[in-house]
Amino acid sequence: MTAAQRAGLREALVAGYRLLHQGRPAVEAVEATIRVLEASGLFNAGVGARLQLDGARRMDAALMDGHGLRAGAVAAIQQVRHPITAARLVMDETAHVLLVGEPATRFARHFRLERQRSPTRAQWKASRAAAEIRQARGSFQRTLRLYDAMRSGRAGKLGTVGAVALDREGSVAAGASTGGIALMLPGRVGDTPLIGSGIYADDETGAVSMTGWGESIMRMAVAKEICNRLAAGVTPSTAARLVLEKLIRRTDGAAGALVLSPNGRFAIRHTTPRMAAGYWGGRGEPVIADRFA
Ligand code: GLY
Repeated sequence: MTAAQRAGLREALVAGYRLLHQGRPAVEAVEATIRVLEASGLFNAGVGARLQLDGARRMDAALMDGHGLRAGAVAAIQQVRHPITAARLVMDETAHVLLVGEPATRFARHFRLERQRSPTRAQWKASRAAAEIRQARGSFQRTLRLYDAMRSGRAGKLGTVGAVALDREGSVAAGASTGGIALMLPGRVGDTPLIGSGIYADDETGAVSMTGWGESIMRMAVAKEICNRLAAGVTPSTAARLVLEKLIRRTDGAAGALVLSPNGRFAIRHTTPRMAAGYWGGRGEPVIADRFA
């Protein structure tokens, strides 16, 4: 983790906690936290989101309020600075849960969400996806390289941002925002906007936000699986450990989880060597690290 990323995480934790301290709902704190990370350009979300193989930046985000099981999400949205706020608007302003593609982008425009420009030709040329394509010769070879990379898990680099929070009323919320994985086919959607896979929140069990290789997380509906274990009385740490072990065993996947129960117990666990993350309850300094148990 760079010093700038550490500072970005700190700013995000402070922004979220400030709202909780003022008595605002957990879902607002989660949105505010993720907005700081999206705006920073230092993570794979919002301004820093990766490009797909056609040079487009398509982003996914989701937000869930454990009070009433309300949820909103967007997938493959373009040209917005804060996909998490688009997800919030889907939750608050529509009777739906998930909007995708160009209609999701138009929805964000309708609500006058802050825009970000499409990647320039220079940005595309400098991207890793473009470098991979340049190295390959011919479309068949390119396709093989792409799938080799995906199969070997190189496409599953971390960088998705997420947050979970517990408010004074005892409600939990979870959110996540991402630019996806490296070497994505145009139109690929990962776990992040899928409720139950990338995030889940239920005041009766807890809140979970995932990062990692979406194709493995989706196949196990990991966020809901962790919540199911919390419902069975398992602690956040054990629930995360058991489900991540299963993820490796059954899907050869890679992921990190933020898990918070309504009684305030929480865990940060990852199967990857590192996961930049932090937590703060308002006392002392926020704890930020790139390796957790
Ligand atoms: N976890 C983010 C993604 O796979 O898109």
